[in-house]
Amino acid sequence: MENVNIMDHPLIQHKISMLRDKNTGTNEFRTLVEEIATLMGFEALRDLPVEDVEIETPIETCMTPMIAGKKLAIVPILRAGLGMVEGITNLVPSAKIGHIGLYRDPVTHEPHEYYCKLPDPIEQRTILVVDPMLATGGSATEALDFIKEHGGKKIKFMCIIAAPEGLERLTKAHPDVQVYVGHLDRELNEDAYICPGLGDAGDRIFGTK
Ligand code: PRP
Ligand code: URA
Repeated sequence: MENVNIMDHPLIQHKISMLRDKNTGTNEFRTLVEEIATLMGFEALRDLPVEDVEIETPIETCMTPMIAGKKLAIVPILRAGLGMVEGITNLVPSAKIGHIGLYRDPVTHEPHEYYCKLPDPIEQRTILVVDPMLATGGSATEALDFIKEHGGKKIKFMCIIAAPEGLERLTKAHPDVQVYVGHLDRELNEDAYICPGLGDAGDRIFGTK
């Protein structure tokens, strides 16, 4: 699929395997989600715009590249996306952070929006939307719809685990969005959970049930 980048770095794969383990507790789970977000973010942000600026080294003055343009916007999909934010701000401390609140209806599995606040001017920023899980793709697709309605243009979406069903829905609805996937899993089960997956990401990050 065009615009889909599936990670193959052994460090990312190793950490995802640790996440999957049901014996991994909340504290370790949170740390792993953050570390994976940093490793994936490094790849997802490789085309950030740069411009040459003048710097005086101890030896001489030179023109050398620095990140250019409006500051990056990181947009976690609440709740579980919050767990990835610090992993990205470790790389880009000046990033602005927006929030989109969506929850899946437990019966229909369709997303419902309850919050949306994005940094202005959103249309001039690279926007990195983060959510650990892409299951049916309903939440991510709707989040990107909202961001585009608010004027967002250069959008990237990053998830740790995706189901084929969700990836297909997302890329069909938003073929212009660059998608970064930590691992592409086998399928969804009848409750729309990813198999083998890691269970409920929000519950495992926040220690709820
Ligand atoms: C989870 C996950 C995604 C969504 C993925 O959130 O963090 O946002 O499900 O499923 P989908 O691709 O089928 O839409 P959930 O709705 O459980 O909310 P939470 O993060 O508040 O727990
Ligand atoms: N949301 C999760 O947190 N996990 C899944 O497997 C599917 C949706």
